[in-house]
Amino acid sequence: MFDSGLGGISVLRELRALMPNERYLYFGDSANAPYGTRTLEDVRALTLRNIGMLYDRGIKAAVIACNTATSAAVSALRERFPDIPIIGMEPALKPAALAHPGGTVLVLATPLTLREEKFSHLMEQYRDGVRIVPLACPELVEFVERGELESEALGRYLHEKLDRYRAGADAAVLGCTHFPFLRAAIRRVLGDGAALYDGGLGTARQTQRQLALRDLLAPADQSGEVSLENSQNSQKELELSTFLLSQTT
Ligand code: DGL
Repeated sequence: MFDSGLGGISVLRELRALMPNERYLYFGDSANAPYGTRTLEDVRALTLRNIGMLYDRGIKAAVIACNTATSAAVSALRERFPDIPIIGMEPALKPAALAHPGGTVLVLATPLTLREEKFSHLMEQYRDGVRIVPLACPELVEFVERGELESEALGRYLHEKLDRYRAGADAAVLGCTHFPFLRAAIRRVLGDGAALYDGGLGTARQTQRQLALRDLLAPADQSGEVSLENSQNSQKELELSTFLLSQTT
């Protein structure tokens, strides 16, 4: 599994719950995060390099646990590594739009995710049914990278971004894998009127389907394993990764 940093651990939690017998190798590129404010070419190059590094270690499948890296690089990855399944992510607009016909759906994501073609296509599919409001929130990535899941500064930032939607939003899509770690703080600011959606469980199910199709699922008697690695290879970073993996919200 790969993410620009620690966010993809929210997806790892879902995969582990669904497929506890698998052996997971998670690599977060925190030394280069955030990706969402970089250029497309940069993100594509970093993603190809990082997945290449994991591929060389003999992985049977790759999960791009990052909406930003997926929009920038999923096609290039599938071309470069055609012999393994590559599972990507996109903001969970579909379930949100289908559950709130005629409603207003916020999509919180990185600037790169929101300006890429993949998201434009996704919006085109659902814009007749709901009012879609894309909201770039790159700073939220950095709060999570610092392990700051609750703070006054975070509250201020969220109020600034979300207060005006408190009354009108029916749903908010957490379209960046860092954001589920801020679910409680986001919920507090948006109120209970907006349902929150993220793509973690959908990605876990899609990974399970892809593995099953290729007969790659771990045998039932294999004991599961998680290895957390990070380009910012410090004790502090690894402790923060372990802490985030233990979070249940
Ligand atoms: N976690 C990533 C995503 O899902 C992006 C974070 C970043 O900007 O580095 O989009």
